[in-house]
Amino acid sequence: MEQGTIRTLIETAIRQLEFAYTPYSHFKVGAALLAEDGTVYTGCNIENAAYTPCNCAERTAFFKAVSEGARRFRAICIVGGMEGKLAGYTAPCGVCRQVMMEFCDPEQFEIILAASPDDYQVYRLKALLPLGFGPDNLGNPTETRGR
Ligand code: THU
Repeated sequence: MEQGTIRTLIETAIRQLEFAYTPYSHFKVGAALLAEDGTVYTGCNIENAAYTPCNCAERTAFFKAVSEGARRFRAICIVGGMEGKLAGYTAPCGVCRQVMMEFCDPEQFEIILAASPDDYQVYRLKALLPLGFGPDNLGNPTETRGR
């Protein structure tokens, strides 16, 4: 992926930190999801007093995108830190990796973990979710997710 695109995604994800609703953990996460058509869908984590309804930034971005008709994605950038201060990479939780598996080709989809606009690492979904269970297992290849 182009350096300029990565930088834009990181800056977009960082801007989402201010919207994170985190009165319980105080750990703020921002995400920027790049669809195949170039649209960027944003997300932040949204916590809840009952705890289990908490939603991660990544899933917020995916669910916003899918609810607006997007089904094909190239990459997601994730940033996070206590009180929104970035201090290292924030990797997606297992549930979010599984949601990525539903809509993305694990060999192609890129996950950008950033600590700053100049400090990031790029992983393919397959590396973060090896031997993942997905649409293929039920006879629905990922390629059919597209509209
Ligand atoms: N969180 C995310 O939004 N994404 C991640 O990748 C890891 C965890 C959120 C969930 C919760 O609101 C807070 O971070 C602490 O777990």
